[in-house]
Amino acid sequence: MSQPLDVKVPLLEFSDVHAHYGPVEALRAVNVHIHEGEIVSLIGANGAGKTTLLSSIFGAPRASSGRILHRGEDISQAPTNRISRRGIALVPEGRQIYQEMTVEENMMMGTTPIGMDHFAEDRAAMFELFPRLKERRNQMAGTMSGGEQQMLAIARAMMARPELILFDEPSLGLAPLVVKRVFEVLSEIAAMGKTIFLVEQNANHALRLSQRAYVMVNGKIHLSGESAALLDNEDVRKAYLGLH
Ligand SMILES: Nc1ncnc2c1ncn2[C@@H]1O[C@H](COP(=O)(O)OP(=O)(O)OP(=O)(O)O)[C@@H](O)[C@H]1O
Ligand SMILES: [Mg+2]
Repeated sequence: MSQPLDVKVPLLEFSDVHAHYGPVEALRAVNVHIHEGEIVSLIGANGAGKTTLLSSIFGAPRASSGRILHRGEDISQAPTNRISRRGIALVPEGRQIYQEMTVEENMMMGTTPIGMDHFAEDRAAMFELFPRLKERRNQMAGTMSGGEQQMLAIARAMMARPELILFDEPSLGLAPLVVKRVFEVLSEIAAMGKTIFLVEQNANHALRLSQRAYVMVNGKIHLSGESAALLDNEDVRKAYLGLH
C-alpha cells in the first residue's frame, strides 16, 4: 500500500540503532530523523558518539541492531560505495583532505560516486563559492591554512552532487572569523537546496543555524527539539553554551 500523502518519509532516519567498537557500545538506541530540506544539528561533548553516528551511515561501524533508513529503505548493511551513490556525502572531522594532492585533484576525488561528467561545471560553481580555491587550484592542499582546507573539504563533498551533506565539526580549530565564514557557507549550501546534518561542538552557532537539533550524551540521544527551544533550555545552556 502506498504511504498516505500527509506522512512524509524522512530523507534519513536512525531507528533504535545500536553500534559497538568491540565490546564497547558507542551508539545506544539512537532515534534521529532528518527531512529533506532541513538543517539538523547534533551537539554533544567529546566522545559522546557524534562521529560514530555519522560513520555508521557508511557502515563503519555497522549498526549491530536497529535500522538506518534512507528514503525509507534500510541501508544499514549496504556497501559504503552504494551509500555515497545514493547522494550522501561526508565532510569528515579534521577535514581529511589529500595533503599531497593539489586543490583540483582533491576536487576530482570528490566526483568518485558520480564520475567526471559534470566536473568542469561543478568546479566552476565551487570556485565561485570559494574564490580562494580558484586562486590556489594548483597548490598542494597540505600547504593551505586550516580554513582553506576546510573549504576544500566542503568543495570536495559538493563535487559528488549530494542531496544530503553530513558535516563533522567543520568549525573545529578555526579562528573566529573563519568560523563565521564556515557557517555562512553552510547557509549558502542549504539555500542551494541541500539537506544538512551538522555535528558541532560549537553549540551556539549550530543551534542558531539549524531548525532542529539533537543532544547526544554517552551514545544516547539525551534531548531533541527545535533549535530555538534548545537554545533556551537551561540544561543545554549550562552544559554546552557555557551560560547560566
Ligand atoms: N575506532 C574506534 N575504536 C574503538 N573505540 C572508538 C573508536 N572510535 C571512537 N571510539 C570510542 O567511541 C566513543 C564515541 O566516539 P566518537 O568519536 O564517536 O565521539 P565524538 O562525539 O565524535 O567525539 P569528539 O567530539 O571528540 O569528536 C568514544 O568513547 C570513543 O573513545
Ligand atoms: Mg567526533
